[in-house]
Amino acid sequence: MEVLTGNVKEEKHVPFVEELEEGYRVTVGKPAIHPMTEVHYVEFIELYVEGDLVGKKEFNPGDVPIAEFEVEKGKVVFARELCNLHGLWQGELE
Ligand SMILES: [Fe+2]
Repeated sequence: MEVLTGNVKEEKHVPFVEELEEGYRVTVGKPAIHPMTEVHYVEFIELYVEGDLVGKKEFNPGDVPIAEFEVEKGKVVFARELCNLHGLWQGELE
């Protein structure tokens, strides 16, 4: 599947990655959260550190598409999310 990306401030599908004390938080749609309706929703969020998949959270319609991962930190950090209508998107830790 093609991995899409863009400016996190302009494109609500790009995962927004923040550093926490013990890991990372990933939000899909900042400041306006991505829709989570029956017909249009975020299916999952994945977190990659140093190129490895270190965490994955799945969602259902009605959930809030935010995931926190308690993981060992690294220098290269990005997240991916799958929207059921608009595909697979990637965003880096800023
Ligand atoms: Fe979408």
